[in-house]
Amino acid sequence: MIGRLNHVAIAVHDIKAATAVYRDILGAEVTDEVPQPDHGVTTVFINLPNTKIELLEPLGENSPISAFLERNSAGGIHHVCYEVDDIIAARDRLKAGGARVLGDGEPKTGAHGKPVLFLHPKDFCGTLVELEQA
Ligand code: CO
Repeated sequence: MIGRLNHVAIAVHDIKAATAVYRDILGAEVTDEVPQPDHGVTTVFINLPNTKIELLEPLGENSPISAFLERNSAGGIHHVCYEVDDIIAARDRLKAGGARVLGDGEPKTGAHGKPVLFLHPKDFCGTLVELEQA
C-alpha cells in the first residue's frame, strides 16, 4: 500500500543552524524557511536526489514538536512520510486493521499542499508515520 519515502523529518531547536549544516557542511540543496502556523512549525526542505529531509522548528506556543524537543535536546528524527495513492482508502484500511490515526482522522493539508495524516507511533515500531497522498 505505501509507496515512495517522501521525506524524513528532523526536529531541531534552531532551523537556521540546521539548514547551514545541510547546506554548508553536507553540501545539499535547501529551500527557504516556510512558517506553517496551522501546523505549529517552520519548515525547510533539503532536496536529495531520491527523497527529502524536512527540518522542523517549533512555531508558536503550542507546537506539536515542543515535547519531542524537550525529550531530545539535540534534536532528532521526528517522523517518516510515505506516499499513498488514495489517503482515504489507506486510512480506512489501517483503521480496519486496528491502527490509530491521530487527530480527528480527517486528512489535513500538509507542507506540500497535499492531504496528510499521522499514525500513532506505538502501532508502527515506535515511529511517527505521516501519510501523504501522492
Ligand atoms: Co512531514
